[in-house]
Amino acid sequence: QKQGRLQNKHVVISAGGTVEPIDPVRYISNRSSGKMGYALAKAAAEQGAQVTLVSATTTLSDPIGVKTIHIQSAQDLSDQMMAALPAADIMIMAAAVSDYRISEPAVNKLKKQTSGQLTLTLVENPDILAQLGAMKKEQYLVGFAAETQNLLEYAQTKLVKKNADMLVANDVSKQQVGFGYDTNQVTILTKNQEPQVLPLQDKLSVARKIMQKISEVIN
Ligand code: PMT
Repeated sequence: QKQGRLQNKHVVISAGGTVEPIDPVRYISNRSSGKMGYALAKAAAEQGAQVTLVSATTTLSDPIGVKTIHIQSAQDLSDQMMAALPAADIMIMAAAVSDYRISEPAVNKLKKQTSGQLTLTLVENPDILAQLGAMKKEQYLVGFAAETQNLLEYAQTKLVKKNADMLVANDVSKQQVGFGYDTNQVTILTKNQEPQVLPLQDKLSVARKIMQKISEVIN
């Protein structure tokens, strides 16, 4: 029997940057390293939770004691998160999801255009956090907000619009914050409490504080 504040809880976490294919060898993605989501998975497991990590691209190795599912695109991630929702107690969207995908990825490698230009048509991907927010019952839903301006205002809007219970906001225009770094500086927003500003610290410490706060509100 595991000990910890999250024992008997099933936590599902997404991490990394989604990959949207252009052709068999090229893709659109983003700068997410997966470090924040993997740190959350580790912190949740430390607290005794049963953890499922749905991981988009990353170079990190699977965390010990965590069921890790590897996916590529936003659509794959949506499928896995929606499938995991009914059996989850806590869901955390730390992945950086591409808002758009190539409407029709080429079956064969694209050749250089004689015109000197290439136009790609993008179509919108599902908003997974909003889907989960619309479908959830008792689950505690946590989203992230990666912003480069108006951090708290935009994060507050996402909290409400996507029906999340908690939003973790990071200002990714700052050094040592967000994409790729080993450290992060976040502000935690919930529906009923004042925003909580955490200091800059390593991602595992941030993750432990987020899991601690979740365990306080759900227990
Ligand atoms: O992976 P690292 O290098 O450690 O970097 C960590 C991080 C910066 C990626 C992480 O801390 C973070 O902020 N993750 C969310 C990135 C993001 O996509 O933020 P957003 O503000 O665009 O999206 C808001 C929320 O909606 C997020 O929870 C996101 O997962 C979710 N979303 C976004 C788009 C979409 N189509 N579906 C979604 O579910």
